[in-house]
Amino acid sequence: MPCTSVFGAQWGDEGKGKIIDRLSANADVVVRYQGGANAGHTVVVGAEEYILHLIPSGILHPGKVNVIGQGVALDPVQFLDEVDGLRARGVAVDPSNLRLSANAHVIFEYHMRLDQLAERWRGEGRIGTTGRGIGPAYADKTARTGLRVCDLLEPEHCKTRLRAALAEKNALIERVHGCEPFDFDTQFDRYVSLGDRLRSFVCDTGAEVRAAADGGKHVLFEGAQGFMLDIDGGTYPYVTSSNTGVAGIAAGAGFPPGRIDRSIGIAKAYCTRVGEGPFPSELHGAEAERLRAAGNEFGATTGRPRRCGLFDVPAMRYSLELNGADGWIMTNLDVLTGFDEIRVGTRYRRGDERWHDYPAHLPTLAGITVEAEGRPGWTEDITGVRMFADLPRTAREYVQWVEEQVGSPVLMISVGPDRDQVIDREV
Ligand code: IMP
Repeated sequence: MPCTSVFGAQWGDEGKGKIIDRLSANADVVVRYQGGANAGHTVVVGAEEYILHLIPSGILHPGKVNVIGQGVALDPVQFLDEVDGLRARGVAVDPSNLRLSANAHVIFEYHMRLDQLAERWRGEGRIGTTGRGIGPAYADKTARTGLRVCDLLEPEHCKTRLRAALAEKNALIERVHGCEPFDFDTQFDRYVSLGDRLRSFVCDTGAEVRAAADGGKHVLFEGAQGFMLDIDGGTYPYVTSSNTGVAGIAAGAGFPPGRIDRSIGIAKAYCTRVGEGPFPSELHGAEAERLRAAGNEFGATTGRPRRCGLFDVPAMRYSLELNGADGWIMTNLDVLTGFDEIRVGTRYRRGDERWHDYPAHLPTLAGITVEAEGRPGWTEDITGVRMFADLPRTAREYVQWVEEQVGSPVLMISVGPDRDQVIDREV
């Protein structure tokens, strides 16, 4: 199967970094197609831990081509820091294995400032963004006032576009928010010189990815965030500003949707969410604390403690259905070791109403909780298990039961942070 989409099926932080790194071993090209440095993909290789925000997780495998597509909102400072950081740790990063779309939109300092200012104004309705400028940058793209990587490479052109954009942003920053405006010359010089450092990585990534697929290469599309944070399908307005699922690939990578052969979701054996917004299966108090500690549930990008909850069957079915998933990968099963009973949210409830399916017609899921069913847990350490048959009986039964509830096969199970800690269960 040459072209595979791998997407987060929950609210992000499903352990995609590790899984994409693992799947990259059999891929030729790994493509990021949306989001920006709001993502934080953690990959553990032996004693080394890497946290990647923009660069695809395939970079840790020599010989793979890693692509940042046109749908990514690119913070050039973060991108170059990541390049430098990887090089300093001995990872080969150069234009032969890292390609950047000329059409990717650029995140400027003013986007980050406006992201933070907008959150203040939202008050109670704040989203809890990562503050990385994602929303304002995508808003500018849609409003056609954004600048792309190719604009940074043409100083005269950049000057005209940046002058117009900054005039408007400064008016907003100064007159609406009462903050210090940005100096045009400083910003222009800074971003043009960043553009110079980006230049060697820049190409027509869509054409390269299509040509690779034509040539029978294996292409892996790496989704960032999770489908429940998708701008259209997620828990709007508590979402990120891009299409995080399969639908984002066509536009964000410049790749025809009909040529994606396979779609795989990634989900934890429980749920987490960072930031605000409805979370029907959320746990509170000691149970949440225990899960947070066991799973070390703190954001890779912001360090924020993640909200923890039960595995959510209706949301998972919805997510897999909308992304045409052929199966899914369950991560963090080891985190559930030691819980007497493992509970799973099997339907939604509000007052006397009950739903088996994700109620997408509601304006918000606020006030909805889950009805949970439990299965017996296990106490054995499963981090060294590599064959499904070697899992404790109750762990196997848990996986099979969740699989039945969701109606989609579990293809792989992750039992620890290292790239080798997986149970391959291709069915
Ligand atoms: P933004 O993407 O920074 O605008 O944040 C919008 C919402 O998405 C917030 O609730 C963030 O916490 C959440 N979010 C953004 N990126 C990630 C991620 O990579 N993992 C988990 N949540 C994320």
